[in-house]
Amino acid sequence: MKRMKVKELLAQEPGQEVLAKGWVRTKRGNKNVSFIALNDGSTIFNIQIVCDVAKFDEELMKQIGTGACLAVKGRLVASMGSGQAVEIQADEIEVYGTADASYPLQKKGHSMEFLREIAHLRPRTNTFGAVLRIRHAMAFAIHNFFNSKGFNYLHTPLITASDAEGAGAMFQVTTLDLDNVPRTEEGKVDYSSDFFGRQTSLTVSGQLEGELGAMALGEIYTFGPTFRAENSNTPRHLAEFWMIEPEMAFYDIKDNMDLAEEFIKYCVQYALDHCADDIKFLNDMFDKELIERLQGVLKDSFVRLTYTEGIKILEEAVANGVKFEYPVGWGIDLQSEHERYLVEQHFRKPVILTDYPKEIKAFYMKMNEDGKTVRAMDVLFPKIGEIIGGSQREESLEKLEKVIAERNMDTRNLWWYLDTRRFGSAPHSGFGLGFERLLMFVTGMSNIRDVIPFPRTPKNAEF
Ligand code: 4AD
Ligand code: MG
Repeated sequence: MKRMKVKELLAQEPGQEVLAKGWVRTKRGNKNVSFIALNDGSTIFNIQIVCDVAKFDEELMKQIGTGACLAVKGRLVASMGSGQAVEIQADEIEVYGTADASYPLQKKGHSMEFLREIAHLRPRTNTFGAVLRIRHAMAFAIHNFFNSKGFNYLHTPLITASDAEGAGAMFQVTTLDLDNVPRTEEGKVDYSSDFFGRQTSLTVSGQLEGELGAMALGEIYTFGPTFRAENSNTPRHLAEFWMIEPEMAFYDIKDNMDLAEEFIKYCVQYALDHCADDIKFLNDMFDKELIERLQGVLKDSFVRLTYTEGIKILEEAVANGVKFEYPVGWGIDLQSEHERYLVEQHFRKPVILTDYPKEIKAFYMKMNEDGKTVRAMDVLFPKIGEIIGGSQREESLEKLEKVIAERNMDTRNLWWYLDTRRFGSAPHSGFGLGFERLLMFVTGMSNIRDVIPFPRTPKNAEF
């Protein structure tokens, strides 16, 4: 007999013989009848297995505890209990794997902190089942969106010798013997004997190579892991996170903003359409405003304003008695509290902030006529703050070389990037969406560690 997934089973008409496989969520009952809630990850819902205890071996019944894995053959019947339309009247049960009393997910209502300590098992909870199914659906939606627009999925390298964002927070990649590091005559590490013959790191962004792709294929996107060694222990930062980075030839900042807005709305709509059961569960369980917030984002156009205008609003707020932990003034790098004030208090909808001071943004952004600001755009979201960072790119070789010199950057690692400006340069733009930040928004999870299966954060690389 062919196994049917729980999701399929729950949609079947009663009357047929079926085979279900899955893990026991709960078992209750009395000495005559046992009710087992079985889940196989295909849906948030369980299928109820009803066992006439007299029909089964006593030893077997004892083995069926929370966490055990079973195969159950039986008849699908209309359920008399509330909560499900059908259930399985069990005829045969095979126990694939028992789980004894030390199984940590015995009772409901574990804290998120505790579940992080058992990240190898937490996918078996309702919450993480829902989150991981939504994560899958969002990845699929993202590929759908760009594919339907004719973008090419470009695989950019994870190991790199360049620091795209210039933040310097990179993980080194080396095969040198760290107990016996080779040295140059000046006493520096001699990377010429390292694997790549030079110093390399894990990438913080696929953008620079993405730009090379856009200058040939027109429109590309990347979707892969990126790595940042910044020591920020916040609910919004991971050391390893996934980023989607579209890069488009012939797009200016306005086209870039339009694409970003359409893209996020598509993802949110996709989640509402395809993950309704999981989102409803998360809404009821953790965040009663989740569905409302998701629908809210779809309804309105995102507010678009300049950094300078944003700072004015924040300064007025301070003058009117609003307290921020960090000071406000033109030139500051906005903190999450500032971003969230604009989005949640002032406008009450997503905001795209543009034209930031050049000093707080990366070298590749296009300079505005004022010589002080660059054509950057950050998309700010309720509960999250920055969800997207992007810009129009500087296409002038001369201006780009000037900025690189001003910042004392090492051009030896960037000659190939500069070649795009040397040969057939074109106006172009792009942005990066933090996949886990999107998932925080869509699931309502308040900690980024809870939207990725196995989070990497400072002092934490278990599992
Ligand atoms: O603003 P960021 O640093 O921009 C870039 O990396 C550009 N190269 C993107 C581009 O223009 N192609 O990062 C982009 C987004 C942020 O808006 C945020 O959503 C997410 O990546 N992000 C992080 N997410 C989780 N943990 C971290 N440590 C993150 N750092 C950035
Ligand atoms: Mg940013």
